[in-house]
Amino acid sequence: MSHKVTLIPGDGIGPEVTRATVRILEATGVKFDWESFQVGAEAFEKYGEYIPKEALESIERTHVGLKGPVTTPIGGGFSSINVALRQKFELYANFRPIRNLPHIPTRYPDVDLIIVRENTESLYSGLEHEVVPGVVESLKIITEKASTRIAKFAFEYARKNQRKKIHAIHKANIMKLSDGLFLRCCRTVAKGFPEITYGEHIVDNTCMQLVMNPYQYDMLVMENLYGDIISDLCAAFVGGLGFVPSANLGDHCAIFEAVHGSAPDIAGKNLANPTALLRSSLLMLRHLGEVDAATQIRNALEKVYRHHEKLTRDIGGKAGTSEFADAVIEEMENAKVAPGQA
Ligand code: NAI
Repeated sequence: MSHKVTLIPGDGIGPEVTRATVRILEATGVKFDWESFQVGAEAFEKYGEYIPKEALESIERTHVGLKGPVTTPIGGGFSSINVALRQKFELYANFRPIRNLPHIPTRYPDVDLIIVRENTESLYSGLEHEVVPGVVESLKIITEKASTRIAKFAFEYARKNQRKKIHAIHKANIMKLSDGLFLRCCRTVAKGFPEITYGEHIVDNTCMQLVMNPYQYDMLVMENLYGDIISDLCAAFVGGLGFVPSANLGDHCAIFEAVHGSAPDIAGKNLANPTALLRSSLLMLRHLGEVDAATQIRNALEKVYRHHEKLTRDIGGKAGTSEFADAVIEEMENAKVAPGQA
């Protein structure tokens, strides 16, 4: 059986990390039927649309996407493709596991933290306007429906995966109505999960608490903007943006992508670390039921980091993106030859 997956390589380092990831995925022996599409500025030049209709139809058909990063212009230009895809397919849960890999220099070993970010509203609704020259207004939308939905997602995941604790992160001392509503929804949902300890922390304090002692947290649930910022902060615990995967999950579709952006400073130079997209693809494999293949890649990836001869430059290695992918594939082949040593 072959899995139909919509592939969006993206731009900047996107095509390089996507190529590396696809090669590794195919080396597992799992069969994929990729439907590949360009989105963003390049797609606009070619087709006159930032997200071609065919790409949207493909996701509707396959229900699964693997996506590289896409550049979003700052302070003007077109709206974020990422936000548009998340809203269009109601990918309401952004799931970001933060875990160390061997041999990555970090101040915090053995981090195991899960961030659940609401993905469809808050200040990312894109509702901004200039009231009068010199005064702009951005609307932060928080709804009972989306807040309850994300809280349920977090608690259900915790129950299924034996996680012990969830903190809702907020700023309800200042945004009493919007964040107040978010908290009320989390409290109501928490009552249905008495085995999971529920706590609430204010977002600025959370940043300090995380840096002081990330081990005090287990799972964090929060609205969109706080989730965006806090997940970059937490990426630093495990070596940086090159390491953190994410899944955008809805009831009907799922899109898997790295947390990092298109890194224009290193694009096209075979320098990018594909680990974050590769780890995102492991979430995709599990979503597709291909658990053995996910384990096969994870073991090989850990070996490449443990041997640390084929690491990319962002963590002090000398290998390029493609050599790194070769090394992971080689470890997978070695494990097949000598399963007893895997
Ligand atoms: P960025 O994540 O692209 O880069 C930040 C720094 O991390 C840069 O120094 C970059 O070289 C480095 N870096 C990132 N990924 C790396 C990797 N895989 N290997 C090695 N080094 C890596 O963040 P930035 O510069 O804020 O954003 C650039 C563009 O990406 C913007 O247009 C932004 O909107 C977009 N973006 C797209 C995302 C997506 O498509 N999901 C997510 C975040 C940003």
